[in-house]
Formats: sequence, structure tokens, C-alpha cells
Amino acid sequence: GAAVAGCSISPSTSTGQLLPSRIALPRPFTVPLPSMPVLRPSTTDGRDVFDLVQRPTTLEVLPGARTDLLTYGGTFPGPLLETRSGRLAVVRHRNALDVPVSVHLHGGHTPSASDGYPTDLVRPGESRDYVYPMRQRAAMLWYHDHRMDFTGEQVYRGLLGVHLVRDDEEDVLPLPHSDREIVLAIVDRSFDEHGQLHYPSPDAGAGEHAHHHVDAPGVDDGHIEGVLGDVMLVNGAAWPVLEVDAARYRLRLLNGCSSRRLDLALDPPPTAGAMFTQVGSDGGLLATSVKHEHLVMAQAERFDVLVDFSKYPVGTQVTLRNRFGSGPMGAVMRFVVARRSGDDSAPADRLPDRLSEIEPLDTTGARVREWSFTRGEVHGKSGWVINGRPFDPEVMAATVPLGETEIWRFRTDLHHPVHVHLDPFQIIGRGTSQGPGPFDHGWKDTVDVRPAEHVDVAVRFTDYAGRYVIHCHNLEHEDRMMMAAFATV
Ligand code: C2O
Ligand code: CU
Repeated sequence: GAAVAGCSISPSTSTGQLLPSRIALPRPFTVPLPSMPVLRPSTTDGRDVFDLVQRPTTLEVLPGARTDLLTYGGTFPGPLLETRSGRLAVVRHRNALDVPVSVHLHGGHTPSASDGYPTDLVRPGESRDYVYPMRQRAAMLWYHDHRMDFTGEQVYRGLLGVHLVRDDEEDVLPLPHSDREIVLAIVDRSFDEHGQLHYPSPDAGAGEHAHHHVDAPGVDDGHIEGVLGDVMLVNGAAWPVLEVDAARYRLRLLNGCSSRRLDLALDPPPTAGAMFTQVGSDGGLLATSVKHEHLVMAQAERFDVLVDFSKYPVGTQVTLRNRFGSGPMGAVMRFVVARRSGDDSAPADRLPDRLSEIEPLDTTGARVREWSFTRGEVHGKSGWVINGRPFDPEVMAATVPLGETEIWRFRTDLHHPVHVHLDPFQIIGRGTSQGPGPFDHGWKDTVDVRPAEHVDVAVRFTDYAGRYVIHCHNLEHEDRMMMAAFATV
């Protein structure tokens, strides 16, 4: 098996404590990449209705081991949902778990009642229709648990999945599709000697008023920094391998880790052309494509990139590396360029210059709101706070008029991936530099705010009045109260 000892993570690249696995791990690049199971709607009469039962399942995540999981519909990750822009989708969740849940569609432009507010729980035995009008453009969204105080643990144990929105604008672009569009959901996990997931909480948290940081005894405060697994899983398989044609592919990447940031690169690099041609980000297509020699992805961010495997000789083994990780965590998966093949999609240089229209939000005269993300005291213990306050689901930290553009300024002490619900934003400046950083293009819903930095974003909420949240997407920070509620009016 792969050696895992001595894998250390620099605190400047990821925030968290490494949990060493206590079971033999598979040799990297031997397990085939699982393709995402697709959930078909059960009704398509005027709207798409999807049925999902959240239930405990035991799966063979590591070859030869059995792992108990909390799942959406029995798979890990949950099934891929595909919906159309402008067409009403309803996801009917039944909770057959023994813990309360709340479902958030991350990146969804969702009415408040279906947004998965952290205290808006679906209790064991209950069902809930989450209603998604899908008044939004094509994008890669993801859905995950959002239960107050237990999001980190419940996502870690399996409650996450990918949701793709499609639209006509994207359909007409000459992008690789079908077998050459690959969804890659990347998460890190750790396993105990029995193959069970290793997470620091001793408490499954069945009581809905349980709080890790208030009354759960024995929680190791050392893990408030975050949790770093030592096994890289892609679509639920450890360091998998995928055979590809020598052709262009579209990779839909999700960093679904709780606390781990990724810096992705291909090894070896292609002999010619860009390593990655980015065509989209969290909120869908970019205005024009952007070339990258590596991709820094904070937690919850998505990148939509083209990789041209025709730039490699047949037989090349191309490793997707994580340059922020060392040892086994320095690799994510491997592609093997297996065969020559006709390419039915245009080469990168024949993509249209304009992929989409992104109108910059007009910030003239915009109100500036500051959100400061720091370590702080939470109920007498060490935790994480926003503007000095721990999350209180009953207190609205801001009231924001619908339709008005505001500048939100995020300040931090350390790395915090900041996520805003309801609508995406545009990054207009980082620190003293004007304009977005290289990985900040397009519509974003999560921004990687780096130590001692401030980031300005332009945001405008539309359509739905109600309560929403802004929070750190290091899930252990979120659970230790780095979240704030706001109301749209
Ligand atoms: Cu991906 Cu509020 O979460
Ligand atoms: Cu954080």
C-alpha cells in the first residue's frame, strides 16, 4: 500500500490537522475512476421531480474494506443531477437517516425556504420538497448537507453531490461533451483500522440541539483548525485512473474537501499549448477563456477547464498533481492516454473568442459592507467568528435590498474560503491590487481569501426575499460558528 507517514501540510496551504489513516491504502492509480451515477427525474411533466432518499449505506470505498456512510440515494458521492435553466426542478428528499439534515444547493439561485438554512431541518422520517426555479445560467453546482454545527461531519460522512445546470448558450459552444465531459468531485478523507471514516467528533449528534462546541464532551479542540484526510478520493475512489482518448476533454472540477486547498497541475505538462484552458467558474461560463499552468482551488470552488490530451503521445501516463500536498496527497488521480481518436470538438484555438456575456456590476455609489473573518471566542471556547460574532441563526447581521449592487469587503486573519448564498458575485479587487486574481474570473460564489488579505466583491441579490447565510467553507470553521445570517428585502 501507499506510505502515508510523514505527510505534512504547510499551514499556509491548507488549514487543518492531518488525520492519519490506520488501514492499508490502495496503490495509487489502480482503481478505475467511477463515473457519477445519474439520477433521472421521476416526473418530467412541466417540471422535473427528482426523488432522493437520504439513507445509511455501507460501501466499498477502499478495495476490500467496508465503510459506513450517510448517503444521498445510496451512493458516494450522491448522484449527478442535471437540470435546465428556466425549468422548475423539485428535489424530494426523504430523510431515512437517524440525524436531522438540511440540504443546500451550493451556487443555486434558490428561494429562502428551499435554501437549506442551517436550522431549517428535515428530521428523521420526514420528507421535504426542495424547489429550484433554476432562474440561472448553466453552471456546475453541488448539493450538500448544511445542518447547523454538523455540516463538516455530515458532509465528511457522505452527504454531497454534483448538480449540473444546462442552457442553450452553453449547448451551442463547441465544447467536448458526452464521454469527453468528466465530472471530478475531489475530497480528502481518513479511515480507521476497520475502514470506517475517521472524524474527530465522538458524537453522531442525533439530538438537534447538540452543539459540538458547547456541550459535546471530549471534542478535541485541536481540530478547530480543520480536518485533513490522507486519502484523496475522486468520485468516491482513492487516487483513481482514467483511460482517455488523445483528444480534448472538458473537466468539471469540484474541490469538495472540508479544509484542504488544492493546487492542480498535470505531470508531465503537455508538449504544446496550455495545461488548462478555463472556460467556466462557479457561476458558469467565462466571457473569454483563460489559460493556466496550474489551478489553485479553495474548498467549494469549481473550475470548468479543457485539457487537450492530443498533445501527449499515446501511452503517456498523466498524473493530476496537487502541488499543495506532499507524499500521497501530492497526487489526485491519473489519466492514461490510451488511443488516438478523431476529435469531434473544436481545438482550443477554435473556441469562439466570446464564450458568454458577463456584464460587470456597476458599483458607482455602492454601499460597502465589511465582513471580517477571524479566530474568536465562541461560548467561552476558541472558535471562529465574523465581525467578532459567532453565528446566531436568529440574528440578521445585514439587511440587503434586492436589486441593489453592494461592495462586500472580506477581511481575514488566515485562509478562509468565503461563500455567499443566493447570488454569485464578481471579484473586483484583492488587497492593494486592482482587479481579480488569476483564478477569480467570472461569476463566483466562493472566494479564496488569503491570510491578512482583503478581497472586494460586487454583489447584487435578486428575486427572493428571505434569510440566507454567508460563511467560511472550511467546514470545521463553519461548524465552529464562522457564519452570519443576512436578510434580503
Ligand atoms: Cu456549500 Cu453554505 O455552502
Ligand atoms: Cu475559515
